[in-house]
Amino acid sequence: MERRETVGDLNRIQAGSISDQLIFFVNGKKIVESNADPEMTLLTYLRRRLGLTGTKLGCAEGGCGACTVMLSKYQTHTQELLHYAVNACLAPLCSLHLVAVTTVEGIGSVARKLHPVQERIAKAHGSQCGFCTPGIVMSMYALLRNNPTPRMADVEDAFQGNLCRCTGYRPILEGYKTFTVEGGCCGGRGRESGCCLTNENAVKETVEEDVSEATSLFQAADFAPFDPTQEVIFPPELISLIKGQKSRSLCFYSDRVVWWQPDSLEELLHLKWKHPNAKVVVGNTEVGIEVKFKNMLYPVILAPNFIPELNTVDHTEAGITFGAACTLSQMGAVLRQAVQTLPPHQTEVFIAVLEQLRWFAGRQIRNVAAVGGNIMTASPISDLNPVFMAAGCRLTLMDRDGSRVVQMDDHFFTGYRKTALSSQEILVSVEIPYSKKAQFFSAFKQSPRREDDISIVTAAMNVTFTPGTDMVEDLRLSYGGMAATTVLAKRTADSLLGRQWGEELLQDACSSLAEEMTLDPSAPGGMVTYRRTLTLSLFYKFYLTVLQKLTEQGVCVEEISSDCLSATEIYHPETPSSVQIYQAVPEGQSQDDVLGRPLMHLSALKQTTGEAVYCDDVPLYENELYLAPVTSSKAHARILSIDASVAECMPGVVSCVFAEDIPGSNATGVAVCDETVLADGEVTCVGHIIGAVVADTQLHAQRAAKAVRIQYEELPPIVTIQEAIAAQSFYQPIRTMQKGDLEDGFKQADHMLEGEMHMGGQEHFYLETNVTLAVPKEDDEMELFVSTQAATKTQVLVAKVLGVPANRILVRVKRMGGGFGGKESRTTLLSTVVAIAANKLKRPVRCMLDRDEDMLITGGRHPFYGKYKVGFSSSGKVVAVDVTYYSNAGNSMDLSLSIMERALFHMENSYSVANIRGRGIICRTNLPSNTAFRGFGGPQGMMVSENWINDVAHSLGKSAEEVRRVNLYMQGEVTPYNQILENVTVDRCWDECLSRSRYQERQAAVDQYNRQNRWTKRGLAIVPTKFGICFTATFLNQAGALVHIYTDGSVLLTHGGTEMGQGLHTKMVQVASRVLGIPCSKIHISETSTNTVPNTSPTAASASSDLNGAAVQNACEILVKRLESYRTKNPKGSWEDCVKAAYFDRVNLSANGFYKIPDVGYDFETNSGRAFNYFCYGVACSEVEVDCLTGAHKNLSTTIVMDVGNSLNPAIDIGQVEGGFMQGLGLFTLEELHYSPRGVLLTRGPGSYKIPAFGDIPSNLTVSLLRDSSNQKAIFASKAVGEPPFFLASSIFFAIKDAISAARAESGLSGPFRLDSPASAERIRNACSDRFTKLVPLAEPGSFTPWSVQV
Ligand SMILES: Cc1cc2nc3c(=O)[nH]c(=O)nc-3n(C[C@H](O)[C@H](O)[C@H](O)COP(=O)(O)OP(=O)(O)OC[C@H]3O[C@@H](n4cnc5c(N)ncnc54)[C@H](O)[C@@H]3O)c2cc1C
Ligand code: FES
Ligand code: FES
Repeated sequence: MERRETVGDLNRIQAGSISDQLIFFVNGKKIVESNADPEMTLLTYLRRRLGLTGTKLGCAEGGCGACTVMLSKYQTHTQELLHYAVNACLAPLCSLHLVAVTTVEGIGSVARKLHPVQERIAKAHGSQCGFCTPGIVMSMYALLRNNPTPRMADVEDAFQGNLCRCTGYRPILEGYKTFTVEGGCCGGRGRESGCCLTNENAVKETVEEDVSEATSLFQAADFAPFDPTQEVIFPPELISLIKGQKSRSLCFYSDRVVWWQPDSLEELLHLKWKHPNAKVVVGNTEVGIEVKFKNMLYPVILAPNFIPELNTVDHTEAGITFGAACTLSQMGAVLRQAVQTLPPHQTEVFIAVLEQLRWFAGRQIRNVAAVGGNIMTASPISDLNPVFMAAGCRLTLMDRDGSRVVQMDDHFFTGYRKTALSSQEILVSVEIPYSKKAQFFSAFKQSPRREDDISIVTAAMNVTFTPGTDMVEDLRLSYGGMAATTVLAKRTADSLLGRQWGEELLQDACSSLAEEMTLDPSAPGGMVTYRRTLTLSLFYKFYLTVLQKLTEQGVCVEEISSDCLSATEIYHPETPSSVQIYQAVPEGQSQDDVLGRPLMHLSALKQTTGEAVYCDDVPLYENELYLAPVTSSKAHARILSIDASVAECMPGVVSCVFAEDIPGSNATGVAVCDETVLADGEVTCVGHIIGAVVADTQLHAQRAAKAVRIQYEELPPIVTIQEAIAAQSFYQPIRTMQKGDLEDGFKQADHMLEGEMHMGGQEHFYLETNVTLAVPKEDDEMELFVSTQAATKTQVLVAKVLGVPANRILVRVKRMGGGFGGKESRTTLLSTVVAIAANKLKRPVRCMLDRDEDMLITGGRHPFYGKYKVGFSSSGKVVAVDVTYYSNAGNSMDLSLSIMERALFHMENSYSVANIRGRGIICRTNLPSNTAFRGFGGPQGMMVSENWINDVAHSLGKSAEEVRRVNLYMQGEVTPYNQILENVTVDRCWDECLSRSRYQERQAAVDQYNRQNRWTKRGLAIVPTKFGICFTATFLNQAGALVHIYTDGSVLLTHGGTEMGQGLHTKMVQVASRVLGIPCSKIHISETSTNTVPNTSPTAASASSDLNGAAVQNACEILVKRLESYRTKNPKGSWEDCVKAAYFDRVNLSANGFYKIPDVGYDFETNSGRAFNYFCYGVACSEVEVDCLTGAHKNLSTTIVMDVGNSLNPAIDIGQVEGGFMQGLGLFTLEELHYSPRGVLLTRGPGSYKIPAFGDIPSNLTVSLLRDSSNQKAIFASKAVGEPPFFLASSIFFAIKDAISAARAESGLSGPFRLDSPASAERIRNACSDRFTKLVPLAEPGSFTPWSVQV
C-alpha cells in the first residue's frame, strides 16, 4: 500500500522539515487544524465542523454554485491580495493553507448589518426559495472585491457558475445592475427622466403611459450605499504568517489518503518517482468528481501549489509559457493583456483560447482549475486540447531524471484519458505560440447550453497561406468529441495542402471530413449524426471566416455572398433588458395595507445571509446517524440475494435496513398502494430503493452502501413509450373525453392532417435535494423534519410503515429549497425509509440525497407522446380533433392518472373546437415513477395542441398567429368537458401582447432578416395558454388555518400550505394583515406542521393561495368579530389595547379557519360537473435566432401578458411568471434526460443535465400583468399563478420551429414537419436540412444499439 511507503516520510514531520498543521482563516477567525482530512472538502468542514450552514450543498460537482465562497490569498511577489470565488464542494480542505475563507455569514447578517449584495438581491426579489442565494451573493461579493465598479458583462461572467431554479434570473440581474456602471448612473434617483433601473423608456416605446400602471418592483434609491472601503479586511495576522513562513512542505494524512504539498520541484519529482501512482491535484475539479462519483481512491496526493516552476508565466520568443498549475482565470488574464498589446497577427491563437475560456465552466471552476489539469485529464471533450493541438503547443515534461519537450499532436493522447507521459513524469508547462502573418486560427465549441457546459463537439482550425496568396501552406484541423481522444483530421488537412481557398476546396474538405470524422452509431454521448454534421458545419464557418480575413488583407479570393456573413459571427451575449408592468393599487389604499403591493418575500433577507434554516441546516442531534440508500442497478429483475456482510463491518456502520425491518406495512403509494417502501423480491426500476445503510457519518454510510452486494436475475425491461405500446403495458383506466361528433366534424372539414410529437420529461432540479431528519420520541412518537410539499401525506405514510396511528407522527416543514411538484409525493420514498431506520435504532437519522441519487430515484415530469388528426376549414378554423396521449408513468401509478386527466383537460389549450376527442393512455414502464411537476400534465396536453394548430397554419400557408387567433375561445363557449367559460380574458391578453411586442413590425423585420441571411434565421411565435384552477381530485380542494393572537398583540399564523420559495407565507401574512387590519410586522409564520393544521392537501395545483388564503381569511374574520366590540368601545385604542381588553374579558384569541372551494367536481363517466373553479389566461410572444449550422439559438425577445386577477403581490406574481417561464424554456428547448436502452439514467447532475442559466434569459423580457381583471372566485379577487405561466415558454419552441421552417425553405422544403421537444441544438441542426446534412446520412434504425433512447 502506497500510503505505508510514505510512513518514512511522515517521520520527517516530527523532525520539523514537514508541517502537518493546516492554518487558515474563516470569516476572520484563525483555524489551526492538526488533523486535516485529505478527503474532506471545504464545504463539509464549514457545514459540519464549523456549523456554518449558510453555504449550501446543491450538487457536489461544481455545477450549481450553491456552495460558492470567496477565498483570498496574499501574494508576496506582488504584495497584492487575490480574491476569488470557488466551489466549496470541490475545494479540498488541505488546499487552504494560509488562505482566508469568506462565507456568506462573514459579510453580513440580518441581526448585525446586511451587506449591500445581500440587501439588493433580496429587495429586488431575486431570492425565492433562497437555496441558491448564498452562492449568488458570494459570486457577486467576490466580483465586487476585485472590481467595485463592474460592467454588466462582468456580472454575467461572475454568474456563469451559478444556477437558480426559481427566479428566472431577471430580478437577480436587475438588483445587481445597481452596482454596475450601466445601472449605477443614478442609483434609481433619475426615474423622472427615464432610468435604466426601471426601464421606463422601454415601456414608453411600446405602450401609452397610464397612471394606474406601475413598472418598478423595488426602489433602488432605498438601498444602502455600497462603500468598497468598508469591506472586511484580510486578516493582518495572516499577512504576517505568509511573510514569515519558512519554506516547508506540508503533509496531511488519514487512514486512507496522504496529502503532500512539497515546497520544491525537486521534492515533487522525488515524490512522484517514489509514488508513480500519486495524483497531482491542483483545482481538484476533475479528481474531486472521480472520487465523489466514480468511487476512485487515490492514496497519495501531490499538490504543487507552492512550486514556482509550475505557477509562473514566461513570455518567450515563440509564445507565452504557462506553468501547468496556472489557473484558467490566470491564463485568461495574461492572454487578454497580450491581445491588447501585441500586433493582431501574433495573437490569433490567444484569441481562440480566450474564446474557449469564455464558455469554459463557470467562474468558480476557472478560478481554480489548472491548464495542466485540463491537458492531463485528457478528456476527449476538453475545450482547450483541440486548440493546443491545432496550434502545436509545446509541453515541457519532467521526471526525477530530467526533462523533455513534446509538441501536442496526435501522438500525445494515447487512448481514452491517457497521455504520453510516463507514470513518474509530470507536466511542468505549456507554451502557446504566437501566430504569424498569413496564419488564421479559429476555435469552436458546441454544447447543449452555451454557458458552463461540456461540449458536444469542439474544434480548432489553423491555416497558414503562402504569403500574399490564398494557397494553403499548412493546415491543422483538430476535433474533440469525435473519438476517444482529441484528434486531428490529418487526411483531410493533408489533401488540402497547396490548394486554393475556394468553393472547390470547401466541397472536397466536406466530403473528406464526412469520411474521416466518422463515429460508431452506438458511440457514447449519442447524437452521432449531429456530431458528424458539426464537423462539416464548423469547417464551413472557418472557411467563411478565413475568406473574410483574406479579403480584408487584400488577397484576391472568391467573394462571400452577403447573406452568408452572419455565419461567421461569434456569439457574444447581449446584456438583457426587461420591463415589468402591473396595476398600481387603487388611489387611497392605506400605506399600511400591503395587499397588491410588491412586498418582498418575508424570508428573503435571511436567505441572503445564510440565516434561513433549511432541513439539512437543523443542527446535528447528539447520537444522530446518517442514512445512505441502497438502490437497484437493474431496471427489472428478481432479487436473488442481498449480502450486507461487508458493509456491516465497515468503519462507522451501525446497521443496515431492509424490508424485514418494517414494523408496519411495506405497501405504499400516494394515490394507489402499488409500491413498496423497500423492494421485496423484485425491483422494477434502476434506483428502486432496496435498503439502506446507517452509519455515524455521511461518508461512512455512503461508502458502505456501495459495498452491499445484490444478485439479480434480470427480467426484460420496458423503458420507452413505444416499447410499452408494443407490449400493451398500460395502467388502468384509460381515460377518454369527448365533445361533439367527430365523424361529422371531419366530414365538415375542408382539410385534414395527421401528426405526432414526443415530449421529453424533465427533472425538477430543485436546488435543495430531498432531505428528511427523523427523531424518535417516547410512546411511538416520531418527529420528522422533511423538505416536502405534503406534510400530511408524509405523516400518513410514515405512520403506515411504522404501524402506528397518525397522531404519533409529527411532520414539520420550515421551508423548502424549491419543490415544483417534485416534493409532492416522491419525498415519501425517502422519509419512510429514514423513519424505519430511526425507529429500528431509536436514534435520530438524517439523509439528504446526493444530487445524483435524487435524480436517479425520485422521477420527474412525464414524457408524453401525442398522435393527432385534425380537420379544419380553409380559413384555418379547426372543426375536429382526435388526439391520443401516451405518458411514460414509470414503475408505479403515483399521480399519473390525475396528470393524464389534466393533460386531457388541456388538450384544446385556448381553442374552441366543436368536435373533439382525447384519449389518455398511461404506460407502465421500468423507469422510476414519474410524478407531479409544475403544470401537472397541462403543458404536455397543450404542447400537442399547439403542434396541431401550428401544422394547420403551416399546411394552409397562413400565419400561425392568424390561425391561432381565429380559433381562440370566446366568452360563453364550452370546453370539451362541458364547462361554460366565463370571464374569458385570453383575447385581451392576446391583443395586449400583440401590441406590446409590436408583433406586426417584428414579423416584417424577421421576414426581412431571413431574406438577407442564409445561415442564421429568425423565428417569431405568439402562443396563448388557459389553465384550469382546482385540484381535479375534488376532496383536495380544502384548507385549514390556525391563528393565535398573543396578549402582546403579536399574531402567530399557521396554515396548511408549505413554503417552497413561491412566497405563499408572504401572501398569507398579507391576507391576515388586511383582514386583521394590522401591519405585517406583527404577524409571524413559523412553519407548517401536522399538529397545528391537520389533514392538509399538498401545496400544489397552484391553488394554495386560493385555498389557504381563504382559510386564513376565515380564521382572521372570526377573530375580528370577537374583537369587534373592544374596538368599538375604544376606537382610539391601539391593536394591543384591544387584544389586551379582550384577553382580560376571557375571549378566545385563537381561531381555526377552514375553506373548501364550492361547486366543483367533475365526472369522467358522464362528462359533466365543474372541473375547475376558474381559469387563468396568458399570452406570450417570442422571437429567436437560430444558427442553422450548429443548431444553437438565441432567445432574442419575449413579451408576456398574464392574467393573475388582482395581484396579491405583483413582485411575487411576476417572479412566478418569470420563474415558470424559464423553467418551461428549459423543458421545451434545453433539458434532456438520457436513458440507456436498459433503463439506466445517464444524466444525473448539472454536469450532464442542463437547466437554463443566466445566459438563457431572453435579451428583452417584458412581463405585464393584465389590468382590470378581478376574479370573484378567489381570495381578494386574485388568481393562481404558480403553474399557469409555465406553458408560455412554448412560444420559444414555436419561434424556433418558425426559424427552422425558414431554413428548410432555403432547401426547398415546405409544409408541416415533426420537431420533438425539447428543441435541442441537435434537433434544430438536424431539422435544418442542407448540403452538409446530406453528406451525413442517418444510421439505419434497428441496426445498432443507441447510447440513449427516447423514453
Ligand atoms: C463543473 C465543471 C465544469 C467543467 N467544465 C469544463 C469545460 O467547460 N471544458 C473543459 O474542457 N473542461 C471542463 N471541466 C473539466 C475540468 O475542470 C478541467 O479539465 C480542469 O482544467 C481540470 O483542472 P484541475 O486543476 O482542477 O485538475 P485536477 O482535478 O486537479 O487534476 C486533473 C488531472 O490532471 C492531472 N494533473 C494535473 N496537473 C498535472 C501536472 N502538472 N502533471 C501531471 N498531471 C497533472 C491530475 O493528476 C488529474 O489526473 C469542468 C469540470 C467541472 C467540475
Ligand atoms: S454544491 Fe458546489 S457547485 Fe453545486
Ligand atoms: S431562489 Fe434560486 S433556486 Fe430557489
